[in-house]
Amino acid sequence: MTARAVLRQAEPVRHSRILGIGGERGSRSVTNDEIAGPIDSSDEWIRQRTGIVTRRRATDDVDVLDLAEAAARRAMDAAGVTGAEIDTIVLSTITYFHQTPSAAAVLADRLGATPAAAYDISAACAGYAYGIGQADAMVRAGTARHVLVIGAEKLSDIIDPTDRSISFLLGDGAGAAVVGPSDTPGIGPTVWGSDGAKSQAIRQTHSWSELRRDADLGWPTLRQDGQTVFKWASFQMAPVAAKAMAEAGVQPEDIQVFVPHQANMRIIDQMVKQLGLPESVVVARDIADTGNTSAASIPLAVDRLLTEGKARSGDLALQIGFGAGLVYAAQVVVLP
Ligand SMILES: CC(C)(COP(=O)(O)OP(=O)(O)OC[C@H]1O[C@@H](n2cnc3c(N)ncnc32)[C@H](O)[C@@H]1OP(=O)(O)O)[C@@H](O)C(=O)NCCC(=O)NCCS
Repeated sequence: MTARAVLRQAEPVRHSRILGIGGERGSRSVTNDEIAGPIDSSDEWIRQRTGIVTRRRATDDVDVLDLAEAAARRAMDAAGVTGAEIDTIVLSTITYFHQTPSAAAVLADRLGATPAAAYDISAACAGYAYGIGQADAMVRAGTARHVLVIGAEKLSDIIDPTDRSISFLLGDGAGAAVVGPSDTPGIGPTVWGSDGAKSQAIRQTHSWSELRRDADLGWPTLRQDGQTVFKWASFQMAPVAAKAMAEAGVQPEDIQVFVPHQANMRIIDQMVKQLGLPESVVVARDIADTGNTSAASIPLAVDRLLTEGKARSGDLALQIGFGAGLVYAAQVVVLP
């Protein structure tokens, strides 16, 4: 009998970290006054209830791939990594309207990253934190060396200007990070999960197959049960963020930066309070003039804090994404 061959497995590396971050916002600033009319709202109401003063939206000639490409190029520049050195692309989006091929594969070609493994994930506003968790695991397992993680959304493509439940919150943008090997730990354990029993709390008005059967339904747009989402985010997400700190072995006093998904300023304030973060912690408040850009919101906010010098390379940042699914993911990372 001949002996069976023993498989060789990928050689693990000890640590991973974020090597560079980049972002791209829609070029237009859209004021509350511009969108308040059709929803019988006002600048004052929107500011008070959400903290949003303006949101950034892309022009008609820019699509979600254009936003993703611009953010990816900046992240690669910041990381000092070329397209040829990227071997995996994980792209989170809910606004790429092709069932196949994936946006990630098309983007890989645009970036000169072929033959990188490339796939899209659907984790809405948690998509970037999901992607960082996957990238961390792949790099440490030795199955990837440089993973490009992108959250990209042109949410203005799925808004209904007459909807007062969610559309007025939304903006367009993309944020990207390159994750690679590191001598020291740069990404803490990812605490993630879902609650599909609340799948209808943030939803598409109708499916593509329903639209196919009945064209009168028109283009699907987003809706949400604002209060359900508000309560879930405000009170159930802080324990998830706290667990991410505990699993990373750090205390609130060890954190320099807090980057929650940019959904609503009141949710951000509530989470800061519940987590007992010291006043010294820099809290991302990018939502005020960017709006909610779903999967792009965390990397966009981090990129801005770094660019404006409010956060520094080496800072410990607690980040948490949460949204439609419902899904969530949090981790503590070292900023690049
Ligand atoms: C959407 C949201 C801003 C609504 O704020 P809210 O304080 O919960 O508003 P409510 O639904 O309780 O409504 C309060 C009042 O405002 C009115 N209202 C609701 N939406 C409004 C709007 N867009 N503009 C003006 N008035 C509005 C309601 O009719 C109600 O009026 P009434 O008191 O006369 O009956 C808030 O629920 C929210 O931010 N939810 C979470 C959103 C989120 O984070 N989503 C993304 C997760 S990824």
